Amino acid sequence: MNILGIETSCDETSAAILIDDRVGSNVISSQRCHTGFGGVVPELASREHERMIVPIVESAVTEANITKNELDCIAATAGPGLIGAVMVGLCFAEGMAFALDIPFVPVNHIEAHMFSAFIPESPNHRVPEGPFISLVVSGGHTLLSLVREDLGYEVIGRTLDDAAGEAFDKTGKMLGLPYPAGPVIDRLASTGDPHFHSFPKALTSQSQTSRNYRGNFDFSFSGLKTSVLTWLQKHPRDFVAAHLNDIAASIQHAIVSVLVEKAIAAARHFRVSAVSVAGGVSANSALREAMKEACARHGIDLHIPGTVYSTDNAAMIASLAGLMLSKGMVGDNRYDVAPFASFGAASRKSH
Ligand code: KG4
Ligand code: ZN
Repeated sequence: MNILGIETSCDETSAAILIDDRVGSNVISSQRCHTGFGGVVPELASREHERMIVPIVESAVTEANITKNELDCIAATAGPGLIGAVMVGLCFAEGMAFALDIPFVPVNHIEAHMFSAFIPESPNHRVPEGPFISLVVSGGHTLLSLVREDLGYEVIGRTLDDAAGEAFDKTGKMLGLPYPAGPVIDRLASTGDPHFHSFPKALTSQSQTSRNYRGNFDFSFSGLKTSVLTWLQKHPRDFVAAHLNDIAASIQHAIVSVLVEKAIAAARHFRVSAVSVAGGVSANSALREAMKEACARHGIDLHIPGTVYSTDNAAMIASLAGLMLSKGMVGDNRYDVAPFASFGAASRKSH
């Protein structure tokens, strides 16, 4: 089965072909037009997707060494994301499926991150066995879920304010770093001291204000943002410049510690033996290292996609569409184009 996946929810135009159990191609074009704006400009993003969608899909088909007529199905992100950006990919995909007279499958972007441990990255790719805890950490979402064997899931925690990626990007902006600051902080932090300053780790065992953190799988990063701002206001510019790597490492340490603590606590609480981490922030090298170390210590099987499959990509869209088709989970093709995450049947439980 040949599935074309299309992803245009934010600032990456991506198309991928899944050929049975392998990724035939995964072409990604990252938009440069937002440089200087300090974030993604929705209008520019939509226009850039519209400009790139045809050449990117053409490249994906050519790279996979197939023709358009050999496609069996087309899947695209239907949200959440920037509404204009989502619409470009979605309408293109639906039109192409209509022209080729093949099925169209709408895919939820966050669910695609959640199931990216199933992207067949290599011939002997290992997937989680049995139920697992999924941590999705991206620019717009921070979500902890319990995924069951039948691939149904329950959201057990989410951020109460900023997403983990936003915490990287906004504190980075305060340090004068370009958008997106996450990868820049990652690079600077590699030669910095993570214990240079202790920034707050809200809703964890290390938080001074939350005594009752146990069983609380929610996140909060807005206090970290305020704390970094206050710290920067108190210190002279040349001191900050001289310690940029140490500050980056300390901010990264605060974010990573929270993510690792919550993911491990959830796995232990629900007695599951596997954890998956996905979404743009899962490209972070310190998070990868800390998760590896913590999972090894607790005998937990860890699944983190390769970095190209961590940040936005269309292989995860095609892969989830394939999973949904194989489990008979594709309905009558009715869907809402959703700018915000709505996790349908997924319910929250109190513990
Ligand atoms: O999943 P993604 O590509 O797009 C969304 O769906 O949001 O995630 C983008 C986020 C941005 O906030 C970016 O700064 C962050 O992922 N990110 C990283 C790294 N690479 C990307 N954060 C920390 N370290 C990285 N290496
Ligand atoms: Zn994403």
